[in-house]
Amino acid sequence: MSRTFYVNGDFVAEENAKISVLDRGFLFADAVYEVSTVLKGKLIDNKAHLKRLARSMSELSMAPPCSEAEIEAAQLELIKLNELDEGLLYLQVSRGVADRDFAYPAKSKSSLVMFTQVKNLLNSPMAEQGLHVISIPDMRWKRRDIKTVGLLAPSMGKQAALDAGVHDAWMVEDGLVTEGTSNNAYIVTKDRKIQTRHLGHEILSGITRHAVLKFAAEAGYTIVEEPFTIEAARQASEAFITSASTFVMPVVNIDGVELGDGKPGPVSKQLRLIYIKAALEHQDL
Ligand code: PDD
Repeated sequence: MSRTFYVNGDFVAEENAKISVLDRGFLFADAVYEVSTVLKGKLIDNKAHLKRLARSMSELSMAPPCSEAEIEAAQLELIKLNELDEGLLYLQVSRGVADRDFAYPAKSKSSLVMFTQVKNLLNSPMAEQGLHVISIPDMRWKRRDIKTVGLLAPSMGKQAALDAGVHDAWMVEDGLVTEGTSNNAYIVTKDRKIQTRHLGHEILSGITRHAVLKFAAEAGYTIVEEPFTIEAARQASEAFITSASTFVMPVVNIDGVELGDGKPGPVSKQLRLIYIKAALEHQDL
């Protein structure tokens, strides 16, 4: 079945899903996005994603393309049209079309595009094996809390990881891990505390991060929201990442150093199970 795309109010076939070359998303990466999980045909934690989208737009003084209710209705329709059972829904808002000029245009209509991707999320083989990551310098801009499509630095990082024969990269700034190329990064310390960088302009406030930290606290873990070094990560008993496309995914090797016995650890496995159970039961976490 060929995919149906959403472009500014219309549901169209891929060959008709087009925007202008003057779209500011294309010329300036003047666009923000969200990636939401779909499980059993239902959006997971989508209200939180839409709230973060609204914040991203507001930080950039970008007008919403339509109401949140209209966005959600279009998301649900797209999932239905594509008969998506398990996978991702990608949504992007750009400032729209205007002749090329750095300043924000006085008048432009924000554009909204969406598409779905089929993906095996629940039974990902990587959850059994665990990820290998390398550390790389964080070359991104200084407002990583805004979820913009300016993704060249993480894209280069991900490619560097693949070229090095591993799965992903953790970015490091001033000697401290910020986050993964498209996920939040965590370690489990030898005394079983869960440590992840505090929120701020340096990292994205992950929707999955929020839910997982809540579940971890409920399960009795102590959470430490402080940045850590790669050295601390290499000495941790476990590490993992979180995102809408990976849930909780164990990391078993950092810069060639195996964590523990090199297999996914019990804390990462437990948090993954808790997250998936909650997502299948509740939708809003
Ligand atoms: N990425 N940090 C970065 C830099 C990210 O790009 C993402 C998400 C996250 C995790 O956020 P969330 O839990 O809300 O998915 C953290 C998405 C999945 C992507 O770009 O494909």
